[in-house]
Amino acid sequence: MSPDWTRIRHDFPILDQEVHGHPLIYFDNAATSQKPRQVIDALVRYYERDNANVHRGLHELSNRATDQYETARRKVAAFVNASDEEIIFTRGTTEGINLVAQSWGRANLKAGDVILATEMEHHSNLVPWQMLAAQTGAVLKHIPVTDEGVLDVDQLDSLLTEQVKLLTFVHVSNSLGTINPAKLLIEKAHAVGAKVLLDGAQSAGHMTVDVRSLDCDFYALSGHKMCAPTGIGALYVKQPILANMPPWHGGGEMILRVQFGSSTFKDGPARFEAGTPDISGAIVLGTAIDYLESIGRQAIFDHDAQLTSYALQRMSEIEGLRIFGPMQDRGALVAFSLEGAHPHDLTEFANTQGLALRGGHHCTQPLMRKFKVPSTTRASFYFYNTRDEIDRMIDILLGAKKFFGS
Ligand code: ALA
Repeated sequence: MSPDWTRIRHDFPILDQEVHGHPLIYFDNAATSQKPRQVIDALVRYYERDNANVHRGLHELSNRATDQYETARRKVAAFVNASDEEIIFTRGTTEGINLVAQSWGRANLKAGDVILATEMEHHSNLVPWQMLAAQTGAVLKHIPVTDEGVLDVDQLDSLLTEQVKLLTFVHVSNSLGTINPAKLLIEKAHAVGAKVLLDGAQSAGHMTVDVRSLDCDFYALSGHKMCAPTGIGALYVKQPILANMPPWHGGGEMILRVQFGSSTFKDGPARFEAGTPDISGAIVLGTAIDYLESIGRQAIFDHDAQLTSYALQRMSEIEGLRIFGPMQDRGALVAFSLEGAHPHDLTEFANTQGLALRGGHHCTQPLMRKFKVPSTTRASFYFYNTRDEIDRMIDILLGAKKFFGS
């Protein structure tokens, strides 16, 4: 049975408001998703009843907080089909990628090794590798992107040499919407002995992700793009890779024994969670996962795909509107430009009509240069959005066309 999307939309109190005298249309979900009442209530309930530090106290509240924190880890593990010993809580995808670079990368890469990324990476999956390359002498290379906005897989065989120690790529591009052929890329990288990191920022909340079936070695996600608060995320690291990774942050909770001169460290995810973590964030990330699972991830994917294909069809009818990225195998976002209107001006115009889009380079400056544009405007959807909102966006874009004389 199809989910009751109208009832589901009512779970999001923030959507029920006017902006500049118009009903809010929130199409900036790739930047951050909205939060359902269930997640907001769980956050308040935690602070009203259970707040305490984890893994430290011998009192009731600390035990409750610890139980809920570790239950959340199990929920994240089940969400991506991993074991809880393979899930490290982070602040988000960016931190997860930096953790892999500074822990696994520094321990395993040497001068001349190759880190292979793609031309469509978000800065968060580019800058950490530039930093690691400068630290180790490793070389960073990129799989090219075609004019259609997909990876040029014909180049793969020549790029995937035995020097490649890591292939790292975005699962769903935040700029182009491209859903990359993850399984194929992972298989090819493993065939030359490389490890594979998947940037799951735009995929985790939108589709079923099974790290066992994908067989990736690292998968990083952000809670705030999947109905949880900002500041919490998770990193999956396949065993036994995790068991052999050195710590990156030092401090409380990640140690076994500390002396003035040296320390020994815990095994498992705790080794990478120094200091007091975002306890409430992790717990309600678990609530967000319960919420998404209650709707069904395939249902969410199908709903997003229908909205996106409807948006693509309607937007293609507007003369002078250029769509970036592929027309098929696309996540729930459409980046575009409108002749005669700077993307920032267009995005500001939309805002005056209550429509929240994102205008900018979307943290993919090299990709923008490749497409010879300074920036684009982006509409990104989630399961609480409707066809009616897309129709209203089209009217606003037609109004913008008149306004900018394009
Ligand atoms: N990475 C986020 C975006 O694409 C912030 O908007």
